Amino acid sequence: MTNCKAVEIAKNIYWVGAVDWSMRNFHGYTTSRGTTYNAYLIIDEKITLIDTAKIDFKDELLARISSVIDPAKIDVIISSHVESDHSGSLREVAEIAKNAEIFTTNPNGLKGLTARYGNLNYKAVKAGDSISIGARTLQFVPTPMLHWPDSMVTYCPEEKILFSNDAFGEHLATSMRFDDENDLDTILFEAKKYYANILMPFGKQAQVALKALGDLEINLIATGHGVIWRKNISKIIDCYKFWSSEEVNERAVVVFDSMWHSTEILAQTITEAFARRGIPAAYYDIKKTPLSDIVTDIFKSKYLAVGSPTINNQMMPTIAAFLCYIKGLRPLNHKGFAFGSYGWGGQSIAQVEDELKAAGVEIILDKIRIANLPTEKQLDEISEKIAALQL
Ligand code: FEO
Repeated sequence: MTNCKAVEIAKNIYWVGAVDWSMRNFHGYTTSRGTTYNAYLIIDEKITLIDTAKIDFKDELLARISSVIDPAKIDVIISSHVESDHSGSLREVAEIAKNAEIFTTNPNGLKGLTARYGNLNYKAVKAGDSISIGARTLQFVPTPMLHWPDSMVTYCPEEKILFSNDAFGEHLATSMRFDDENDLDTILFEAKKYYANILMPFGKQAQVALKALGDLEINLIATGHGVIWRKNISKIIDCYKFWSSEEVNERAVVVFDSMWHSTEILAQTITEAFARRGIPAAYYDIKKTPLSDIVTDIFKSKYLAVGSPTINNQMMPTIAAFLCYIKGLRPLNHKGFAFGSYGWGGQSIAQVEDELKAAGVEIILDKIRIANLPTEKQLDEISEKIAALQL
């Protein structure tokens, strides 16, 4: 058992989650600042726990709960989301809180929890359902695909707290629980990165959820990861409105791998050509920056140029992995093209173009294929083509 304590976030409402300072890879997403698994304890006539924590942090969760109340006294557990970072300690908590009822969505929460933890004391809820836990009410709002089909958020009208689970969160390990106790630029960057890597394919569902939550008065957004929003609530909601929209910025991202600097020279030329026509451009050697950071930049940047030399008749495996990731995230309203150098064959550039098309990127320039080292004349021609693009 650890010496961790609960943090009171409102009268008789406590953060009892866990801080994962060392997490650096969250199912492929590079979490360079770690993360938290937030859970909340409400002391009312019915003692209520909202979410648990990843199983590795069960002791931390139980220690924080125990600093307020005997966990055996928990009457109600809300499972907002089946994914194991939130439900991972559910069985262990249920074994201690033997009479607790576990509220989850119907049918997906019920199915997912049963598959993972067997038959526990589940109570299925749907949109519009609420329960009284004494002086407080908990209203359930399903938010399918934010992040899984089972996801829901819970609103407490008496406290004006939205327990939002994955929505509005970010992977950020911190000792301070509230947004205004941390650096806002860092939080917003990590929130954008979280949205880009986790929620990008679900913009339409996010907009439905924002509409459903639109009329709620909110004093706190108690997220499932990272900080609790209390000062910048309208800012993070406005960010979600923009992030979930189809709007993109006039900005270009150039991503490439290179073997002997030729594709690298092309990438530099393309980046500068965009900048010369007034479009800010970012340049990423894929070996130097994690995919999840590159994707964060691509997310709201309208233009995407991807380059790869040819190796064994294929594109570089780094670029193949990147394009596979992009194809899954389905960025909206992106325009782009492929480029690369080659020694012979040169099949990679068409392969990159095909994968960009498969990711939904509109091709606005025929693929740039350069044998061996590009000449100054060829580089000038590439710049001219980018300058002449009808955007
Ligand atoms: Fe934080 Fe989708 O789990």
